[in-house]
Amino acid sequence: MSYNLLQKLLLTLEPELSHSIALNLLYYADKLGLLACLPQAKVSPQVYMGLTFPNKVGLAAGMDKNGDYIDALAALRFGFIEIGTVTPQPQLGNPKPRIFRLPEQQALINCLGFNNKGIDYVVQKIKTTKFKGVLGVNIGKNASTPITEAIADYHYCFDCAAPYASYITINISSPNTAQLRKLQYGDLLLQLLSVLKAAQSKLLQQKNKYVPLVVKIAPDLTMHELQQLATALSINQIDAVIATNTTLARPQITEKHVGGLSGKPLYPRSTAVIRILRKLLPPEITIIASGGITSMHHAAAKLKAGADLIQIYTGLIYQGPFWPAKLIKSLA
Ligand code: FNR
Repeated sequence: MSYNLLQKLLLTLEPELSHSIALNLLYYADKLGLLACLPQAKVSPQVYMGLTFPNKVGLAAGMDKNGDYIDALAALRFGFIEIGTVTPQPQLGNPKPRIFRLPEQQALINCLGFNNKGIDYVVQKIKTTKFKGVLGVNIGKNASTPITEAIADYHYCFDCAAPYASYITINISSPNTAQLRKLQYGDLLLQLLSVLKAAQSKLLQQKNKYVPLVVKIAPDLTMHELQQLATALSINQIDAVIATNTTLARPQITEKHVGGLSGKPLYPRSTAVIRILRKLLPPEITIIASGGITSMHHAAAKLKAGADLIQIYTGLIYQGPFWPAKLIKSLA
């Protein structure tokens, strides 16, 4: 069966089922050595946050929530892989259906709600992976944890995962966990960042390992909120920001599904956030672009807007597994 036919078939199945089939096919293709033929573009490695990235194209969080497919995804030539979001305890997430395709717009709406197998499972997976490249672990809070106690969930996940991760992403921007986005503002944000900076310093002292902290933000912040956030990131010497997560806005979309919108319609807003942040943040804070990259032109434009690195998710669903290698070549 040709790949195009297989992809068309997968896109007719229920989204979570096709997601699972696609990742399992990739897993076995990797085990059989079938992905070794993917081209490896000649790109000069670059250093951000003290880590060496073989290329600028990464996989965004959410595709491999539990770290089950790290080696297979790495075989697609990604310069870095981010797994998660993972929470302290395993949880089922929201009731199904919770992923909706909008193929004409090359978009998705999801309201998964951090379905994951918990931090202990993910750490075991990282320990057994062969991948030696840049691996980010994206952490969040359990749905049952009140927002006033959320910091303890992040702290716990950091302590468990950081000894085995290249960097840790603090996800405070998913729209599918009640009140999570409150952590993007005011005292809650400052407390969260200072607790995690202390945990980062402790790990450095005890294990001589510096694990960069990355904050993932929403595209739905106002200019004033972005200014406050940029100040908080700067004074706490956060290593990087991922802009952005999915949006609650519905630009030119009539579908009424509840959840976060990703893919092409997210591109203008999330790129505008990059431009704003590049002006607000000192150059030593790395900017990772995530949001609506569905073409080579989009990827190049994100870098031009001020991003240092990019991440893809929805584009990969619609363009297929050979796309990361093509994207890397086009940016070389
Ligand atoms: C996501 N995204 C996401 N982000 C995150 O930080 N933790 C997560 O668990 C998830 N889960 C998730 C599931 C699904 C089905 C989608 C489509 C997205 C957000 C993702 O990482 C990315 O930031 C956005 O989707 C925007 O990028 P794209 O998809 O437009 O390239």
